[in-house]
Amino acid sequence: MQFPRSKKALLGLLSDGHFHSGAELARTLGVSRTAIWHLIHELEALGLELSAVTGKGYRLSQTLELLSEESIVSFLSEPAQALASRLEIHDELDSTNSHLTRQAGAGGAVCLAEFQSAGRGRVGRIWLSPFGGNICLSVSWHFDDHAVISGLSLAVGVAVVRALGQAGVAGIGLKWPNDILWCGRKLGGILLEVSGEAHGRHAVVIGIGLNLYISPGGGQAIDQAWTDLTQITGGVLPSRNRLIALVLNELLPMLSDYGQVGLRALLDEWRSYHCLDGEPVTLHQGERRIRGRVAGVNDAGLLLLDCEDGERRQFASGDVRLRADVL
Ligand code: BTN
Repeated sequence: MQFPRSKKALLGLLSDGHFHSGAELARTLGVSRTAIWHLIHELEALGLELSAVTGKGYRLSQTLELLSEESIVSFLSEPAQALASRLEIHDELDSTNSHLTRQAGAGGAVCLAEFQSAGRGRVGRIWLSPFGGNICLSVSWHFDDHAVISGLSLAVGVAVVRALGQAGVAGIGLKWPNDILWCGRKLGGILLEVSGEAHGRHAVVIGIGLNLYISPGGGQAIDQAWTDLTQITGGVLPSRNRLIALVLNELLPMLSDYGQVGLRALLDEWRSYHCLDGEPVTLHQGERRIRGRVAGVNDAGLLLLDCEDGERRQFASGDVRLRADVL
């Protein structure tokens, strides 16, 4: 969904983070000052932090780099361009994953949104992201063999860490199955959904969320330890459009090979990023709680836990939490 022209133009003007008077905004957009006032409230409802100062006007607390197809494509490698069947950019969607799931089109569709009104995380969680402050990216892909999908989220994690490294963001870790962490705090996550079967092929939607900037107010609504690239880089953010292209440059060729090579080629690298090896954890599987110590992952990407009864068991799903009682 795209915003009306005036709302989009207002965002463009305010994206520089400088003050703009109501009169100037109204004149440039060809609307009344009351209309500007209403639009400012609509922007606030999207999670944007604005200040209004008498005599100065309105200002965004943070500069915004709006999504740009032209810019993303300019940073895409040739293989990634060839593998992307379509690139959609929306001002607002319920969820980029839900959008691609409804489309059931060809694999290689790439969908981005500035804002998700019903962003989804793993295990039924809500995924919050203010307008323009995150990367909300989904890619659809098809696989012949359902079995290979089990390790896919680990492979996607490797692609994201590599892309962040190329953008100059070092020290990123992964938490099984697919949390993207920095210093134990969540920078992003991956939501993989098998969206159906067509002509014997399994359609998968891969959703990636990465925090670029979350305001202190916005962060209060997040129910786990979080971070964003602004904190990690001390405010020297990599270009959002370039970072998206870097993720796609890693992700699309990886997906194209994955049906043949599976997780094998990426496992050692994934293990080198894993943050929880040897740690005491509780695995949450719905109402079930399993306590143990992490013993890495097996070759299929299943979590290995040395459980309290002395048995080593493997798990395909769940939410791993560090155990505070032994820290
Ligand atoms: C997690 O819980 O760690 C997974 C978060 C995944 C969020 C992304 S944002 C883009 C895509 N669309 C969604 O609704 N969710 C994923």
